[in-house]
Amino acid sequence: MMQTRILRAEGEALHLAKEYLERGEVVAFHTETVYGLGADARSDDAVRRVFALKGRPSDNPLIVHVHAEYDISPLIDGEPPYAAALRRAFLPGPLTMVYPSKGKVSKYVSCGLETLAIRVPSSPTAQAFLRAVDLPVAAPSANLSKHVSPVTAGHVYDDFAGEIPLILDGGACTGGIESTVLDCTGDVPRILRQGLVTREMIADVAGDCGVYRPQRGERPKSPGMAYRHYSPSCRTAYCRTAEEAETLCREEEGRGGTPYILCASADLPAFSGRNVLDLGGTGEEMAKNLYAHLRTAEREATLLVGLEPRERGGVMAGVLNRMRRAFGVEDET
Ligand code: TXA
Ligand code: MG
Repeated sequence: MMQTRILRAEGEALHLAKEYLERGEVVAFHTETVYGLGADARSDDAVRRVFALKGRPSDNPLIVHVHAEYDISPLIDGEPPYAAALRRAFLPGPLTMVYPSKGKVSKYVSCGLETLAIRVPSSPTAQAFLRAVDLPVAAPSANLSKHVSPVTAGHVYDDFAGEIPLILDGGACTGGIESTVLDCTGDVPRILRQGLVTREMIADVAGDCGVYRPQRGERPKSPGMAYRHYSPSCRTAYCRTAEEAETLCREEEGRGGTPYILCASADLPAFSGRNVLDLGGTGEEMAKNLYAHLRTAEREATLLVGLEPRERGGVMAGVLNRMRRAFGVEDET
């Protein structure tokens, strides 16, 4: 077991991060969405180590992260005009763009797909790290496969203590859900995973934006979407009415358990006296709070009852997608 250090991304820590990556080791780092588990994207061994550490299925590709001045043109095989416009509008930021690949990074990054997902995170910690290493960094979210994504350095530590040498701490993530993944290989951009950069925001710049929905039985375009994900380790139940949620809590108490409710601020009055995890009022607040609350629930609750927020529009598509999948229910958005 190695020692896992948690350091701010400055001075000596950045030198260490560079050394570790050049040696084929894996380093976790803060981004504005969730923490990432980074490795040199050009190294087969380092990329395979990321899959092994997470227990990630070998058909779920990784995103390559680069700093704001990094020239991605050697990595990608052309870029449609709308994608260049989207880059100017939203990067650095929580938007991942999928391009035709030139095959310049390890084949394990894209799991046999002919595309490459690229992201330029905006958090100062991520930028300092990516500048210091100055190479393409393959990084999934820094959680064990299927577990809740990490939004603090402590969450990363809980999943990987003793397994990685360094976590670059940038505090709590302000975005809170993973980046929007956008397919930029067609005539019109298409969302593969909803996130903080919304369909409306993309359509405003690109003129149009589709949302990919896998057909029954089809291999999904973004393979990560096929798995149950983001799940807390406690028992969970998902409700669409407060009455239903209240009944489930009463039953759980009757069994001697400790139920917690996860709901929007607007629904708090229905649950006075109960253990409540308040998601907040706006979509942005709910995105920021969701994963931290799921991690709290797994420490404190025997049953987590999720009440679907009524808020719609904007980033709620992404929030509801993550929330439904954390509770193992079909996503309708
Ligand atoms: O915000 C984020 O995107 C975070 C931070 C660390 O940057 N990363 C993240 O990575 O969420 P991960 O591995 O948990 O999710 C990556 C998603 C998966 O759904 C994967 O299938 C999709 O991106 N993806 C990666 N490469 C792809 C490709 N070439 N084509 C389609 N989807 C791809
Ligand atoms: Mg993930």
